[in-house]
Amino acid sequence: MVSIATEKKQDLNLLSRIASGDGHGENSSYFDGWKAYEENPFHQIDRPDGVIQMGLAENQLCGDLMRKWVLEHPEASICTEQGVNQFSDIAIFQDYHGLPEFRQAVAKFMEKTRNNRVKFDPDRIVMSGGATGAHETVAFCLANPGDGFLVPTPYYPGFDRDLRWRTGVNLVPVTCHSSDGFKITMKALEDAYEKARLSNIPVKGLLMTNPSNPLGTTLDRECLKSLVNFTNEKRIHLIADEIYAATTFGQSEFISVAEVIEEIEDCNRDLIHIVYSLSKDMGLPGFRVGIIYSYNDRVVQIARKMSSFGLVSSQTQRLIAKMLSDEDFVEEFIRESKLRLAARHKELTTGLDGLGIGWLKAEAGLFLWMDLRNLLKTATFDSETELWRVIVHQVKLNVSPGGSFHCHEPGWFRVCFANMDHKTMETALERIRVFTSQLEEETKPVAAATMMAKKKKKCWQSNLRLSFSDKRRFDDGFFSPHSPVTPSPLVRAQT
Ligand SMILES: Cc1ncc(COP(=O)(O)O)c(C=O)c1O
Repeated sequence: MVSIATEKKQDLNLLSRIASGDGHGENSSYFDGWKAYEENPFHQIDRPDGVIQMGLAENQLCGDLMRKWVLEHPEASICTEQGVNQFSDIAIFQDYHGLPEFRQAVAKFMEKTRNNRVKFDPDRIVMSGGATGAHETVAFCLANPGDGFLVPTPYYPGFDRDLRWRTGVNLVPVTCHSSDGFKITMKALEDAYEKARLSNIPVKGLLMTNPSNPLGTTLDRECLKSLVNFTNEKRIHLIADEIYAATTFGQSEFISVAEVIEEIEDCNRDLIHIVYSLSKDMGLPGFRVGIIYSYNDRVVQIARKMSSFGLVSSQTQRLIAKMLSDEDFVEEFIRESKLRLAARHKELTTGLDGLGIGWLKAEAGLFLWMDLRNLLKTATFDSETELWRVIVHQVKLNVSPGGSFHCHEPGWFRVCFANMDHKTMETALERIRVFTSQLEEETKPVAAATMMAKKKKKCWQSNLRLSFSDKRRFDDGFFSPHSPVTPSPLVRAQT
């Protein structure tokens, strides 16, 4: 008799290496947290004990403005009485160049989200299925299997799938440190470049994300110039993922690589490529509007041919062309979106500050980078995972651990804040408050004992520290029956 396990293995042998391997990169706590949420999603009334999704970088704060515009512009859709006369023109085959009005509107929008300091040529706009598709297409255009791209850490976990899975390309981490706010330094770049060389990985480019996911930071002009110079000198490509361009608020300023290359004499523009999408700035991830903007003619031509595999549907192109051409709407939307992001960010950071929880100072993106290093039993990724499990399964907040972003320092967590309503954010903060006060209660006797033992040395002050000496506290019994946060018997992490 053939066992089920053997049968499964044989089944996999019927498939390609890509299909049967795990190059999709989804075996990470980043995606496990999503599964935990999906199995038991929080709902204010129907599931008040469910997991709150704080692992999804989605901008839902201005959905009302979007819905209002759609209702006021029925002619923008070909599936309404007002737009149906265009149905046949739009529903027929459209080639991979995209509707001219779509490319023009997107180019203008990209200028606006870069404060009109640069011009974008509509003929260089290439479509893709979201930034996800854009990254893969760029990787296919620039690199062969086995080649590598340098990527500053921490970085968006999806890159492991988007750039690597089907292309066979490597990502080489550029290690950044919390001691200087995770800045991308020349030394870190040179070290990573050298490491790749020693591992026989030909480096084809550097992929940077500005504003950063997960840090929420923006790169200053000086740093951007140094990245352009570094890549130019090494004759490697620079891919700038700018999909959070319009999510800056407060004091932070977004500077596009498009602006910086104009200030660098003799810059080799053939090496510069921008990845963009409407997923974050307009809060439309479901529309799958991704853009490759390359300054390299050959890349534009090839990427356009490849875009046949991930075109934006013609009815979406038409709707987006109409929407983005409404300049008053776009201006108001971006202005309001920044205000709402700033207000939500303030609400979350004020809450965390009140609880003595640290976070990286940054004012962009749809998330913040929370510092829970003080809660780790030991400064290891095992401890980070242990703490993450508690947060997901007991506190019931799906935040994402830094290890899944390739952060090299354990104890950091990304917390998304723009994908929920105000009440849910209040509930999330209340759960964190209960969690931290329980921890403080728990650690008091430990602290007292330590103080006694060490006589004069103060170990426990405002900083929370989590002792995992008895891990079972979290698995059962840690939360009292009276705690508003009840442990879930349903959800178990899969890592
Ligand atoms: C930095 C970064 N790049 C790309 C993507 C993928 O975006 P899209 O939904 O447009 O495919 C994301 C999504 O979270 C992201 O954060």
